[in-house]
Amino acid sequence: MLRLKSIAGSLLLIGLTVTGLSFAQAQTGAADVIAARQAGYKATLANVGAVKKALDAGADLTTVASNAQGVADWGHKIPTMFPVGSGTEAGVKTAALPEIWASKADFDKLAGNLATEATKLTAALKANDKAAATTAFAATGAACGACHKTYRAKP
Ligand code: HEC
Repeated sequence: MLRLKSIAGSLLLIGLTVTGLSFAQAQTGAADVIAARQAGYKATLANVGAVKKALDAGADLTTVASNAQGVADWGHKIPTMFPVGSGTEAGVKTAALPEIWASKADFDKLAGNLATEATKLTAALKANDKAAATTAFAATGAACGACHKTYRAKP
């Protein structure tokens, strides 16, 4: 009886250790994806800034079409950068609000809107069409704001 008990105890201990390990691994995975998406957003902000600078300067807009394409690519990628478990529960600093996972379809739709607007912006820049690019730039910025309003914690 005693022996059985200690075997059960050891098994329980092993079980706890394994659970502890997979928990630690899950946290590392979440930390990685959070860092990757924050870097992705920073790069996106830089891409938007490059387009704005060219528009303000009256520069050849074709030179920043690739920046707008980068924003569109990011819009397509956003839905994959928010796996379940990568919210505040990951124990890492993140501005991603729990509403994302409560309404993931809506969140993904807003990411799709960003991709759509940034694709229009890319086309306008490639055509060096300043009027169309200015309109598309405003719509792209609005697509950022529409998502932040609901899904990103205020800094
Ligand atoms: C579909 C939703 C969504 C869209 C669209 C979106 N964002 Fe965000 N953004 C977020 C969320 C959520 C975070 C918080 C990420 C985190 O901290 O884990 C964030 C964070 C950021 C950050 C801070 C990154 C950091 O260093 O922590 C910047 C900058 C940013 N977004 C810029 C933009 C710009 C510029 C656009 C438009 C071109 C945009 N975002 C479009 C949801 C969105």
